[in-house]
Amino acid sequence: MSDNSSSTARTTASAAEAHLVALPTDKELVLKVIPLPADCNANGDIFGGWVMAQVDLAGSVLPARRAQGRMATVAVNEFVFKQPVRVGDLLSFYSEITHVGRTSITVNVEVYAERIRNQGRYLKVTEASVTYVAIDDAGRPRPLPPAPA
Ligand SMILES: CC(C)(COP(=O)(O)OP(=O)(O)OC[C@H]1O[C@@H](n2cnc3c(N)ncnc32)[C@H](O)[C@@H]1OP(=O)(O)O)[C@@H](O)C(=O)NCCC(=O)NCCS
Repeated sequence: MSDNSSSTARTTASAAEAHLVALPTDKELVLKVIPLPADCNANGDIFGGWVMAQVDLAGSVLPARRAQGRMATVAVNEFVFKQPVRVGDLLSFYSEITHVGRTSITVNVEVYAERIRNQGRYLKVTEASVTYVAIDDAGRPRPLPPAPA
């Protein structure tokens, strides 16, 4: 008689293996964080709004360097949840600037998870494009300072 439980476990493991990827080498690591049980939704996975908040924070790191002052998030252009995020995942956020305008900076943010029992192996769980605007003391858009030499 076949062992259904071990065959199911093998199938699940190979499905998970199929999503493993290498970390990006052309983007900057801007945040690492581990979600906790308080960040869960009703399914027991991590709440999407929590992930969005972390992406907003991580995404602001490179624009802050460029804006040298107050900024606001003006748009989430795209947000894709590719895989669920689980309690205890070690999440790594990688970012790159994709567009610099007169007052705005757009970044691409990719989020990779190391499952708690599969450290050193990475799944891309989320990808987003977010735009930030440099603002003055009155909250109005202000021109970005010249890029550092
Ligand atoms: C950010 C804010 C100051 C921009 O003011 P605004 O009058 O809309 O500004 P503008 O139309 O002059 O656009 C400013 C820049 O934002 C960009 N922008 C505006 N709307 C955008 C959108 N939907 N998507 C992408 N970029 C956008 C413009 O292209 C422009 O960029 P550029 O100067 O580099 O060409 C204003 O919209 C605001 O205060 N929004 C609320 C911000 C906030 O509270 N964020 C937190 C959310 S909880």
